[in-house]
Amino acid sequence: MKPHWRQWVEEIRQQFPQGNSALLPLLHRIQAEEGWLSPETLADVATLLNLPVTTVESVASFYSLFYKRPVGERVVHVCVGLSCALKGADALMHRLEEHLGIRQGQTTPDGKYSLMEAECLAACDLAPVAQVNLRYMGPVPPEEYQRLLGEGEK
Ligand code: FES
Repeated sequence: MKPHWRQWVEEIRQQFPQGNSALLPLLHRIQAEEGWLSPETLADVATLLNLPVTTVESVASFYSLFYKRPVGERVVHVCVGLSCALKGADALMHRLEEHLGIRQGQTTPDGKYSLMEAECLAACDLAPVAQVNLRYMGPVPPEEYQRLLGEGEK
């Protein structure tokens, strides 16, 4: 446990005084620093907030934006919900897998990209939709998959 995490808990508790309500902001803050949430980190969070570790683990598992293993610099979530599936999400994922040489759920050996599936990202009108780190992008037709990789970005 890093010493300054206790300070973060104090700060967060000003806004969210009860253990459960402080959980999400604390997980976000720690992940922003660490890049992911290890089992040891989740146990530390449980201790800090006086919550059962199973509660912390289940919350971290429920939300797809919490990573329980190391991820790449750019995490590409491709929505595979019904609307996106009907608009070519499978083909989009396949193009990304081919280009990056990894399967969904994996990270490129250079640590630049992780590729993941997501359930409905709640932007069905933009299908097929993807989320790159925290940025929504859509519609992204399969042939435009390189937009998700930031290639050509300044
Ligand atoms: S099904 Fe993809 S955003 Fe809803």
